[in-house]
Amino acid sequence: MIRAITNTLALGLGALVGNQMSLRIACHRAPYPMPHQLAALLEHPWRLKYRHPAEDVGLYGCGPGMNVLDLGCGTGFYTEALAQRVGEEGVVHAVDLQRPLLSQAEARLFAAGLSQRVRFHWCGAYQLPLADASIDLAVVIATLPQIPNKQLALAELARVLKRDGRLVVSEEMPDPAYTPPPVVRRWLQEAGFRFGGQSGAWFCYHQIYFNQRS
Ligand SMILES: C[S@@+](CC[C@H](N)C(=O)[O-])C[C@H]1O[C@@H](n2cnc3c(N)ncnc32)[C@H](O)[C@@H]1O
Repeated sequence: MIRAITNTLALGLGALVGNQMSLRIACHRAPYPMPHQLAALLEHPWRLKYRHPAEDVGLYGCGPGMNVLDLGCGTGFYTEALAQRVGEEGVVHAVDLQRPLLSQAEARLFAAGLSQRVRFHWCGAYQLPLADASIDLAVVIATLPQIPNKQLALAELARVLKRDGRLVVSEEMPDPAYTPPPVVRRWLQEAGFRFGGQSGAWFCYHQIYFNQRS
């Protein structure tokens, strides 16, 4: 009896690990956006245990009057904290490829009374509807590995960021597209960004870069 239970548990665990491994390999071979049907995971209580947008955006250097870009804003989890920080003089550009997620972000910011500070853009990362050198801070949270052509997206980020403007890339292990810090650092350095430091742990880390292009 005990043996049967142990075998069943081992089989279940094996299937789970195998499933996770193949999902993660697939995400890296052919990156794709997180399906919008999984939006609830972005606000899951477990995620709130290791992600604290109100504190994080302070560490990212977000401040009053800034022009900020939230690339891959999803449901607006970070957009709301950014909009709080930039104050009435600042603007947050919330960009997402998936209309249903952008609509959730719009509803969230409206309910928080912050929609006046946010411009919503339904578009992809390769062609941002923003002027050259117009952004002080860009945040890319759990999004960069989902973009197939990283160098194209990073070149577009360099175009819209001011010289020495900040770019924050943050990743978390529960995301099947999770990419470890040294790999992300290589992508960014190949794209010409200067590394400015890292916080958090490998499980959920935040890297800051500075734009070197004028
Ligand atoms: C895992 S979610 C993270 C959402 C949000 N940043 C957060 O941390 O709660 C990734 C988001 O990036 C968006 N995304 C993926 N590829 C994109 C692309 N090429 N251009 C714009 N957004 C993209 C997805 O639609 C999704 O909303």
